[in-house]
Amino acid sequence: MVRRATGGPSDVSLSHTWQTLAEHLDEVRPRHLRDLFQLDPERGQRFSEEAAGWYLDYSKNRITRRTLELLLRLACTSRLPAKIDAMFNGDPVNSSEGRAALHVALRMPADASVRVDGRDVVPDVQRVLRRMENFAGKVRSGTWFGGTGKKIRNIVNLGIGGSAIGVGMACAALQHYGRRDMQFRFVSNMDGADFFLATRDLDPRETLFIVCSKTFHTPETLRNAAAARAWCLEDIQDEGALRAHFVAVTGNRDAAIAAGFAPEHVFDVWDWVNGRYSLCSAMGLALLTAIGPAAFREMLAGFHDMDTHFLSAPMKQNLPVLLGLMGVWNNNFLGARSVAILPYAHDLRRFPSYVQQLMMESNGKSVTQDGAPVGSITSPVYWGACGTNGQHSFHQLLHQGTQIVPCDFIGFLSPLPSSAGGHEELLANMYAQAQALAFGRPLDEGGGPGDAQARGKHRQVQGNRPSNTLLAAKLTPRSLGALVALYEHSVFTQGVIWDIDSFDQWGVELGKTLAAHIAQALGAGQAHAQGLDSSTRALVQKYLDAKAAGAMCASERT
Ligand code: F6P
Repeated sequence: MVRRATGGPSDVSLSHTWQTLAEHLDEVRPRHLRDLFQLDPERGQRFSEEAAGWYLDYSKNRITRRTLELLLRLACTSRLPAKIDAMFNGDPVNSSEGRAALHVALRMPADASVRVDGRDVVPDVQRVLRRMENFAGKVRSGTWFGGTGKKIRNIVNLGIGGSAIGVGMACAALQHYGRRDMQFRFVSNMDGADFFLATRDLDPRETLFIVCSKTFHTPETLRNAAAARAWCLEDIQDEGALRAHFVAVTGNRDAAIAAGFAPEHVFDVWDWVNGRYSLCSAMGLALLTAIGPAAFREMLAGFHDMDTHFLSAPMKQNLPVLLGLMGVWNNNFLGARSVAILPYAHDLRRFPSYVQQLMMESNGKSVTQDGAPVGSITSPVYWGACGTNGQHSFHQLLHQGTQIVPCDFIGFLSPLPSSAGGHEELLANMYAQAQALAFGRPLDEGGGPGDAQARGKHRQVQGNRPSNTLLAAKLTPRSLGALVALYEHSVFTQGVIWDIDSFDQWGVELGKTLAAHIAQALGAGQAHAQGLDSSTRALVQKYLDAKAAGAMCASERT
């Protein structure tokens, strides 16, 4: 039974609210969204809110007024308001690393002030922002010259995870506002194919690399930076001239300088900026260069709009809180273990992957802030694709599969010029999908005259499948900023309810350590290296045999 499987927190009052919600589930479970809408003609309005340019319709969730009341009580017994304050105050809310998670400071106005360890960080943020604007201004105006005197026309971002996914997503989302005469590319993968494909049609003399790594230790990024250096050197053939083709974004300035970056080409990030929350920091340098300083500041303003709303709006009108609570309800009580993010805007095609990292790296945890086993299921699996493409692929499972997958639909009322063709139809499809999920198609409407009963059953769509719909007037830098902040804060909301640290990612470390060990074994030809289990040993041996037989492909590519 879901109630037992999901458990609940150990805190007594919290656990009481959790238990009450679990009991309340018995009232909700038999009710179909069709009936809930029929009983309350105002439901669409009742369960919707608007803030920071976004309209959230959460009425197609399987909730009643009582559900919402109990979920809001859960937020309060979890001390969510106090914890939001703590995050905005720069308290060490990242408990396992003993530091602040102060991404909201990256988008505060210049006259704001927030202290970390006694130091006001806002002036630091503004100083780096001005340096970023200066850099972007030179590249955009053609006054940043490569080592051979040519203008820079191509920017290649080298970074992975939080040092790439956000900026790549935003560059795609805001391409309408970006430079058409410049190329912006993103290389993350350790597989050389990524670098090869991103650079094979570029001229090194016109290309600048932004090496993004907070730690400056990440093997993928350092390997790609080395590949970039070799690629440039082959053409430019002058070590000194290479410096103009490389800038670094890092929290480890010394390592970047030691690696040969000019100190004035290093842009700082701080340890209180977590990778997946770093788009507004210098990690967004490629974006700022693409869309220009004014649009970048507009995006920051959009983030700040949602930050202010999250900090100050009452819980029951608070968009990130409501979105987070719907997630908790669907996951922990209705048992939905995966969530689909479905933007109906081609420019947001990378947004599902962005939300995937944000949610799963933040809230894929098994212990509470104190290190005790967590009493409830934490993050579901997030995935998705843009509509209408997904409708002709995986939506079949959403409508008729045996598991419930709550969906977030994201759309815009007005199209950008590039997406004007088909906009009305696109929006109609988005609305229709949410409607079909909620209300389905009853059996008696399924078959036409003469249809066998069995055929009717194949056509039946059960409905009663939850979704949220998010709408903004238009995809702009400002609305994108507010949308990203909305998801960031809904992650925090859920993390607080599960009492986990949403800002660490220790689970990623083990794989890195093991990979280094195995790489050593592969390189040294040691299938019997210490610490290898029988399965891994056999896999290593397979590689070594193939290598010995000369089956490895030549490094040459065409
Ligand atoms: O995947 C783990 C991770 O630590 C992410 O959190 C981070 O964004 C990414 O690796 C890249 O790290 P860095 O910026 O230090 O290269």
